Amino acid sequence: MSLLSQAQFRASAALPADLLPEGPPEIAFAGRSNVGKSSAINALAGRRRLARTSKTPGRTQTINFYDLGSEARLVDLPGYGYARVSRSLRAQWGELVGAYLRSRAVLAGVVVLMDARHPMTPLDVQLLDWLAGARKLVLLSKADKLTKAEQKATLQRVSSLVEGDVCLFSSVTRQGVEECRDLLEQWLAQAAEIKGPR
Ligand code: GTP
Ligand code: MG
Repeated sequence: MSLLSQAQFRASAALPADLLPEGPPEIAFAGRSNVGKSSAINALAGRRRLARTSKTPGRTQTINFYDLGSEARLVDLPGYGYARVSRSLRAQWGELVGAYLRSRAVLAGVVVLMDARHPMTPLDVQLLDWLAGARKLVLLSKADKLTKAEQKATLQRVSSLVEGDVCLFSSVTRQGVEECRDLLEQWLAQAAEIKGPR
């Protein structure tokens, strides 16, 4: 059984003070609201309703932790850039996600999702800048909405603009799921090596 398929919900944090104490290596999923972060976690774990998804942007408002046994954790971050939530809620988002991304020593890497139909929006670029030092994998989500030719052109363009791996991804057709899973398992294996045997 693959590590990712062991995912089990562990805890939610609405405030920085609620973040789980640091434990095993973590992989966080970040990106604009509605881009498909929670769906990607479900696709990678091979489960339909592990992480809650919704047509309405702003579904995930807490940081949700999923245990992969005792080896690792997946972390579903609330989406950014959803204009319709109140200013105070947006400020709270920034504080919560900022506190997480800035302080987490166990962060093995960040999966950044961008909508394949319009990648590299100003907000995406801001997030990438913010994550400059972190290990990243960019997923071009909802790739099923593009033709093969559009997919190829988008992959080339985004790959030339960002450092790190870029994959076409679809939670619907499962395009890119295996490739992404392999990469994330490599990250976790390397993080475990650095940490040494327990
Ligand atoms: P927030 O929690 O609001 O930040 O959103 P999210 O990034 O977690 O997005 P979520 O996974 O909830 O998906 C948002 C919507 O996009 C849902 O209606 C999903 O069914 C749809 N969706 C997600 N992934 C894909 C995909 O690969 N292809 C298509 N066509 N739709 C997708
Ligand atoms: Mg979500």
